[in-house]
Amino acid sequence: MTILLTGGTGKSATPLATLLLEAKQSVVLANRSGRVPEPFKGVRFDWLDPSTYAVPFDSHRNIDRVYLVAPGITDMFPPMKAFIDVAVQKGVKRFVLMSAGVLEMGGPAMGQVHQYLNTLSVEYCALRPSWFFDNFALQYANRINSHNDIVSGAEDGQVGYVSTEDIAEVAFKALVDDVIEHNNPIIVGPDLLSYDKIAGMLTEVLGRKITHTRLAGDKLKQVFLARGMPEDYAEMMVAMDSLVAGGVEQQLYRRADVVGTRKLRAFFEANLEVWRTSD
Ligand SMILES: NC(=O)c1ccc[n+]([C@@H]2O[C@H](COP(=O)([O-])OP(=O)(O)OC[C@H]3O[C@@H](n4cnc5c(N)ncnc54)[C@H](OP(=O)(O)O)[C@@H]3O)[C@@H](O)[C@H]2O)c1
Repeated sequence: MTILLTGGTGKSATPLATLLLEAKQSVVLANRSGRVPEPFKGVRFDWLDPSTYAVPFDSHRNIDRVYLVAPGITDMFPPMKAFIDVAVQKGVKRFVLMSAGVLEMGGPAMGQVHQYLNTLSVEYCALRPSWFFDNFALQYANRINSHNDIVSGAEDGQVGYVSTEDIAEVAFKALVDDVIEHNNPIIVGPDLLSYDKIAGMLTEVLGRKITHTRLAGDKLKQVFLARGMPEDYAEMMVAMDSLVAGGVEQQLYRRADVVGTRKLRAFFEANLEVWRTSD
């Protein structure tokens, strides 16, 4: 058995790869360059280049389980369906899809991929996590450091922010267990947090005032565009924040199948250098 991780050097696959390595599972990490950290094996694969879809299977003959991380485009279903079809033809029997908490089977984006997997004669699990801690170290970090604020359209909506290490533990079991325990687990962190509360937490941990700036509509979209997001992706993210404002993540939290144990505050404390300003 060999497990292929797409998005292999990304946020969720990185702790998952470590768990698989520790458990002595055969694992291969896919990304566009094929370059991965030691001691992992890497393979070149690009969602946007179908000529690479067979490369992982040609270079590693025993791949029979695949972790699917969508490319960062709004219409991810066509390339994902095409790759899944190649993978099934090459002998893959089980898929674990990184979907998202708010996405029901048959819904938009990864919801389509989830539905497609459900029509195939394969084993699958669609992970449905809430928002990742890592967002504060990546997309929110520049604003935190340049303006001492977190910009959102979430108003007072609360989110069950979750650690990718907690998600990786669920993904690991779904990939390795003889029988998949849950086909579409909703995964949240231990605490429901508003952005006001998170800004207050960062203020305490960093020792400087961080505020929550409330933006909506076009003004929020401009902030997302400035982060380099394509226009349609920025519009989708504005819509996601509106859903949070409407309480969707709070509802999800109440329906969670898995509640992680890692705390956002500990994540901030462990990664202080990310939010250090130059002065
Ligand atoms: N962030 C959140 O709060 C959150 C919450 C719930 C669900 N999600 C979902 O989680 C997914 C992202 O998962 P993640 O954060 O683990 O991934 P990620 O960190 O965004 O993925 C980056 C990885 O994908 C590779 N990659 C990028 N473009 C690629 C392409 N065209 N072809 C092949 N590989 C490519 C990157 O390597 P190279 O750049 O070297 O190719 C890297 O290994 C998204 O679908 C998102 O909607 C996110």
